[in-house]
Amino acid sequence: MDVVPALARWLHFMAGIMWVGLLYYFNFVQMAALKSAAADGSAAAINRHVTPPALAWFRWASVATWLTGAALLGKDFAAAFTLQPSHFAIGIGAWLGTIMLFNVWALLWPAQKVALGLVEATEAQKGAARRRAFIISRLNLALTFPLLFFMGAAGHTAIYF
Ligand code: HEM
Repeated sequence: MDVVPALARWLHFMAGIMWVGLLYYFNFVQMAALKSAAADGSAAAINRHVTPPALAWFRWASVATWLTGAALLGKDFAAAFTLQPSHFAIGIGAWLGTIMLFNVWALLWPAQKVALGLVEATEAQKGAARRRAFIISRLNLALTFPLLFFMGAAGHTAIYF
C-alpha cells in the first residue's frame, strides 16, 4: 500500500469533515441560535466562548484540507488545475475548494474580526461586517454541494464521465 497517498487521503477526509462540518454548524445551527440568544441576552456568551475557538478550527481546517488535497494530487496538480480532460472532475472540485479557501481567509475572517469586535470598529461597521460574513458564509455553503459531488466523482470517474 502506498503510504503517502493513503495518509494524505485519510488526513484530507478528517480536515474536510472538520472544515465543512463547522461551516454547516455555523449556517444551520449557530446563526439561528444567535438570533434567539440575542432575544434573551445570552448571545454575548456564545460569541465569547464558542465562536472564537470554532472559527479557529474552521480556518485552519480549510488550510489543512487544501494542503492534503494538493498532496493527494501530487504530480497531477497542474493537470487538475488546468482542467485537463483526464482530471476534469477533480479539477473542478479543487478549484471550488480553492475559491472557498480564498473566501475564508481574504473575505470572511476580516469581516468576522470586525463583527466580533476583535478589531476597532463602530457599531455601523460591525453591522455591515456581520452582513458580509453572512453572505460569504452562505456562498461557501452553496459551493460545498457541487464540491462534494466532484470530490466523490473524481474517485469514481468511470461512473460519471
Ligand atoms: C471543502 C473542501 C474539500 C472537501 C470537503 C473534500 C473532500 C474530499 C473527499 C470526501 C474525497 C474522497 C472522495 C472519494 O474517494 O470518494 C476527496 C478526494 C480528493 N480531494 Fe478533496 N475535498 C476538498 C477540497 C479539495 C481541494 C481544495 C483539493 C485540491 C487542492 C482536493 C483534492 C482531492 C483529491 C486529489 C482527491 C482524490 C480524488 C481521487 O480519488 O482520485 N480536495 N476530497
